[in-house]
Amino acid sequence: MWSSSVVRRVVLTLALASFSLAGSTIHVPSTSTVKESVLPPRGWAQHNRPHPDHKIELRIGLPQPNFHILEEHLYEISDPFHERYGQHLSKEEVEELVAPHPESIDSVTAWLASHGFQEADLERSPAKDWVYLTVPVSVAEKLLDTTYYVWKHVESGDEFVRTTSYSLPDHLHAHIDVIQPTTMFARFKGMKTTIHSVEDAVKEFQPPKLDSSLNADAHVPVDPTCNTTITISCLQQLYNAVGYTPSANINNSIGITGYLEQFANIQDLQSFYTEQRPDALNTSFNFVSVKGGINSQNLSEAGAEANLDVQFAFGLSFPIKSTFWSTAGRPPFKPDATEPENSNEPYNDWLDFVLAQEEIPLVISTSYGEAEQTVPKNYARRACNGFAQLGARGVSLFFSSGDGGVGDGESDPALQQCFTNDGRNVTKFMPSFPAGCPFVTAVGGTVNVPEIAVDFSGGGFSDYWSQPKYQQNAVNAYLKKLPEGLYKGLFNPGGRAFPDVAAQGLRFRIWLNGVPRSIGGTSASSPTFAGIVALLNDARLKKGQPPLGFLNPLIYSKGGDGFNDIVFGNNPGCGTPGFNATKGWDPVTGLGTPNFKKLKDLLT
Ligand SMILES: *[C@@H]1O[C@H](CO)[C@@H](O)[C@H](O)[C@H]1NC(C)=O
Ligand SMILES: *[C@@H]1O[C@H](CO)[C@@H](O)[C@H](O)[C@H]1NC(C)=O
Ligand SMILES: *[C@@H]1O[C@H](CO)[C@@H](O)[C@H](O)[C@H]1NC(C)=O
Ligand SMILES: *[C@@H]1O[C@H](CO)[C@@H](O)[C@H](O)[C@H]1NC(C)=O
Ligand SMILES: *[C@@H]1O[C@H](CO)[C@@H](O)[C@H](O)[C@H]1NC(C)=O
Ligand SMILES: *[C@@H]1O[C@H](CO)[C@@H](O)[C@H](O)[C@H]1NC(C)=O
Repeated sequence: MWSSSVVRRVVLTLALASFSLAGSTIHVPSTSTVKESVLPPRGWAQHNRPHPDHKIELRIGLPQPNFHILEEHLYEISDPFHERYGQHLSKEEVEELVAPHPESIDSVTAWLASHGFQEADLERSPAKDWVYLTVPVSVAEKLLDTTYYVWKHVESGDEFVRTTSYSLPDHLHAHIDVIQPTTMFARFKGMKTTIHSVEDAVKEFQPPKLDSSLNADAHVPVDPTCNTTITISCLQQLYNAVGYTPSANINNSIGITGYLEQFANIQDLQSFYTEQRPDALNTSFNFVSVKGGINSQNLSEAGAEANLDVQFAFGLSFPIKSTFWSTAGRPPFKPDATEPENSNEPYNDWLDFVLAQEEIPLVISTSYGEAEQTVPKNYARRACNGFAQLGARGVSLFFSSGDGGVGDGESDPALQQCFTNDGRNVTKFMPSFPAGCPFVTAVGGTVNVPEIAVDFSGGGFSDYWSQPKYQQNAVNAYLKKLPEGLYKGLFNPGGRAFPDVAAQGLRFRIWLNGVPRSIGGTSASSPTFAGIVALLNDARLKKGQPPLGFLNPLIYSKGGDGFNDIVFGNNPGCGTPGFNATKGWDPVTGLGTPNFKKLKDLLT
């Protein structure tokens, strides 16, 4: 039996809540049941309890009941054979399609009000599909009927405040998709920069000597030194973009995302331009800080990933308008009373920021990723749906496919973990996220001249997303060629298959901390591919055509002949030789590397 004062308090709270919410249904207080529960993940140890005043930023995702309609629109406007091709949606149209049901907004607001939170304590995304509030752990524990602990990643020492299970009142289960940080154990640090190697580069820079036998496919000569050092000029030769000059069209743009406190150094960029892109000298990019992302410009603190991405994407696409975002957040967080904990969910922080902008760069490359299974499915789905929203607005998104072949993205085979995290501990290939999201274009890696697959090129099949229609013919043709029964149980043949495309991924000559370096990874492949697509957008805009937007339905159909098919090499991992690059699509190099002029003829 409840005491009468408790009953009075409950009734009063409900009355107040309903007072401010005309038309909402009053719910009787319901029992609380578990909303989400995960097994303690491998490699993490539970430690002490956090300080009760330690602040966490809760992010509450409300369901998007009309997301399937957004998805239908996205596929129509991205299908080159559909009459609506290229008719991208506005910010407002997209927001309407991801808006939660008003009843969800009301129920969640009333629940928070019953815990004493007023509208002024809350922040909401423009579509109202996310609610954020910063609370002490002790309050989060009451809200979510849970107990938080400090968890420590044994190998790296990273610490997070997390829980393995949380509960919500029954009537709220249908009104809340996801609440984080709770069960999210993906290591922010482990979102690898997919950089495979950083080596010293020779100081001298070799001018090109062309050989027409090396790029028979594209019918353009290639400098033999491109076999040991990749430069802007090498990529223009390999991908048949020599002599194409984009304009500085005010409507064209390209962006690079940076995380883990990385920023791109402008002095290094000038050194790079002096050597490889003299016409771009003294130009720079627009820097945007997301949630306090840093940009000290201290030459000795510039990020290898940020410098690589910026130098090659912006160098290839110059003079197209360029933006670099630095999104804050990096463990280890001190779970003390004073330092608030970042939500530690970089993709959604960046997505919130960028989706709220009226103007978004038309092409965006991201060279971060992690093993899919370390990201809770409901969280991964929300981030992937956010990428779909960008596609619907006409943005082409590129992600590197990972550097662990069919393994977990760990380039050192000794550190690869190819076991499921689901309590069964069975051996499996490890697809990467976000490469496995069907609404992004995943970019694998190649090496050498002529090109073959590079052995670390991430590829495989998602366990979270089923195979989208746009790639079914290509992927089924590949699966038919697989030796009967090979790798049975190690991958999900019905899953979204990746990568979609590829580009060079080793021996890129960049400038870092004031000196030239040779660097690699699918980290290099994604900005390279993005740079080429920015040129294609230039060609389309010049003809008054809309930008390419979400690329996959196009490249698996009309654009399919615009690629150099990569047919040698494989991507070992998990103690196997991995998949083979073959004629047609394969889970190592996708459709192949771009042939700019062929693509331009096909797509404009
Ligand atoms: C490029 O390097 C690879 C590997 O070392 C070699 O097999 C190939 O013949 C080289 N290509 C040229 C044009 O020298
Ligand atoms: C840029 O876009 C606007 C609006 O669509 C259009 O009116 C203008 O002509 C475009 N400018 C160029 C240089 O293409
Ligand atoms: C770049 O700026 C420097 C210093 O202001 C100047 O000396 C140089 O001429 C400029 N170069 C170009 C190509 O604009
Ligand atoms: C630049 O960074 C280095 C390395 O972190 C540091 O030692 C140095 O003091 C910094 N310089 C300035 C001017 O902040
Ligand atoms: C999972 O299986 C592997 C290989 O049999 C073993 O090395 C590892 O310790 C197991 N992990 C757990 C958490 O049981
Ligand atoms: C890759 O090719 C080799 C050599 O032809 C073959 O033995 C192997 O079975 C192939 N692997 C796959 C996954 O197709």
